[in-house]
This record gives sequence, structure tokens and C-alpha cells, in this order.
Amino acid sequence: MEEQRKKILCVGLVCLDIINVVDKYPEEDTDSRCLSQRWQRGGNASNSCTVLSLLGAPCAFMGSLTAGPVANFIVDDFSRRAVDISAVVWQVKGQTPCACCVVCPSSGSRTVVLSDTNLPDATANDFSKVDLRQFKWIHWEGRNAEEQVKMIQRVELYNSTLPQQQKITISVEIEKTREALYQLFAHGDVVFISKDVARHFGFQSAQTALKGLYGRVKQGAVLICAWAEKGADALGPDGSVVHSDAFPPETLVDTLGAGDTFNAAVIYKLANGGSLQDALTFGCRVAGSKCGFHGYDGIAEKFTDG
Ligand code: ADP
Ligand code: FRU
Repeated sequence: MEEQRKKILCVGLVCLDIINVVDKYPEEDTDSRCLSQRWQRGGNASNSCTVLSLLGAPCAFMGSLTAGPVANFIVDDFSRRAVDISAVVWQVKGQTPCACCVVCPSSGSRTVVLSDTNLPDATANDFSKVDLRQFKWIHWEGRNAEEQVKMIQRVELYNSTLPQQQKITISVEIEKTREALYQLFAHGDVVFISKDVARHFGFQSAQTALKGLYGRVKQGAVLICAWAEKGADALGPDGSVVHSDAFPPETLVDTLGAGDTFNAAVIYKLANGGSLQDALTFGCRVAGSKCGFHGYDGIAEKFTDG
């Protein structure tokens, strides 16, 4: 397949987000009305696919679903965004995850309570059935890390047979502070870590986190850390930290999925030959802009080429 038309695959969670927009975050044990409510397809890898697709990149999602009305909603939405879901694993046991989200424009907060209890994650065995020739980049949202490392090893083996320009780029996101996820540091060409992870290791800024954690990544890798309204920093093999300020919207509206938007926009730029600085700045621009409207639709009109 021609390199240009190859897809970006994101592996991780898809869930239903039931989003309540409120004027003020509710007190515990009160009964209040929200300003609006909507269902939205959520999950980090799934949201990143939405953004990649809106930016104009062919993309695919791999994760688990189980048949039922929630999955029907999710599948319809993937199809509306032209995200390829042929690698989705249809589980016969378990419930499709669902999150109750409270989005509060007056403070900019987004509070999520996720029910993700019994649906098995996609395994290395599931991944072994995926035809790798269709992809130029595969991104893993850190979840079942041991299985994910095995998936990545399959890609590394596949890459070892190919010339440089045909190799699949591997990125991983370590967002949650779970010990098992830290094995992923050593497995990405591009490694995204969250502010939470940086803080968990005792760092109070993106820059110090990158310097302190760079020893964990593989040779030649890029480590990236986003820090909400402070923008994002990245460190590559040349040892210099690259920074982009945030691009706050005129009015803060909806920060749910800002991190997933940032990751997608960075991957989009790097996958299209942009420099690390270009990618970081673009990531902050798209993510900042996304905080200025509900959901993701606004991305298409602001950022799609042509
Ligand atoms: P999340 O908590 O959704 O994972 P982050 O806080 O890591 O997201 O932010 C990701 C990126 O989104 C930041 O680098 C920044 O560019 C943008 N962003 C997030 N929150 C804001 C904000 N309040 N104002 C401007 N940009 C923001
Ligand atoms: C946003 C998000 C939501 C989902 C939650 C899961 O980053 O992916 O769509 O409900 O995080 O942790």
C-alpha cells in the first residue's frame, strides 16, 4: 500500500460518555438540573480517532465492545466519523464501559466516573490477526500493559524486516498512575505521559519530568508531557527540551478529551513529517481550540486542510 494512504491505528478504550453540562459543580447529596445533557462516544483511543479523522487522517480503532444498544450507538458514531473498526474485538461476556461526565464551563473542570468493570481488553492474540501492512503508525493507550507489550513486540518484529520509511511508528500513552503501565516507557518511539504520572514520580513541571524520566525510554525515542493550561513539553534524543505554550480559547467550555485531542494532533503532525516543535505547537493549538467548544465538531472547520 502507498505510504501516504496508510492508516493510523489507536488501540485502547471506547466507552459511552453521558455528559452533563452544569453551571456549577453539584454539592454531594443534592438534586439539581443540568444545562444540557448528551451521549458521546468516549475513551482515550476512541477520542483520538475522532480527532485524527476530523484532521483528515485515515484511521482505525481497536478495542473491545459487546453487542447491545450502547455498542450500536458507538458503532454508528465511529461510522459517522469514518473510523475503521474492523479490528474491534466483539466480546461475548461483559458490559460496554460507560462514564458519567460532569462538564463545568465556569471552572473548566471535567469530572469523570467510569464504569469499566468486566469487559475483557483486546489481547495480543486478537492483535495477531490484524494485518499490519495497512498502518503507518500504531498508538496504544496504556491499559493491559503486559498484553500491549506483546502487541508492540509483534510490530517490532514486523518492522525489523522493512526499510526505514516503511516501518510502523509506535506510540504509547501512560496516563494513569499504575505501576504496570510503566513498562510501556521502554516500548514507544513516542511516549506520552500525563501530568498525573509526572507528579506521581515527584516532578512539579513537564520539563523536570521529561529530564527525570527520559532514562526510561528506548534509544532515540521522544518523551512528551502535556500540562493543561501550561501547554506541553517534549524531549528527544538530541537532549533539548522543546516547549509550546497553551492556546487558551476565548471562553473555556469543555475540557473533556483535551489530552486525547492533543495526542491525536501531535501524532497527526509527526506522521506527516512535521518537526517535534511543529507537532507540539499543533497539539496545543488543536487541544486549546477544542476546549472552546463542546465535543469535537469544531475541529474540522478550524484545522482541516483545504
Ligand atoms: P487531559 O487532562 O484531558 O489529559 P491535559 O491537561 O494533559 O489534558 O491537556 C492536554 C493539552 O490540552 C494541553 O497541553 C493544552 O494544550 C490543552 N489544554 C488543556 N486544558 C487547557 C486549558 N484550560 N486551556 C488551554 N489549553 C488547555
Ligand atoms: C476523556 C475520556 C472520556 C472517558 C474517560 C475515560 O479523556 O477518554 O471520553 O469517559 O476519559 O477515562
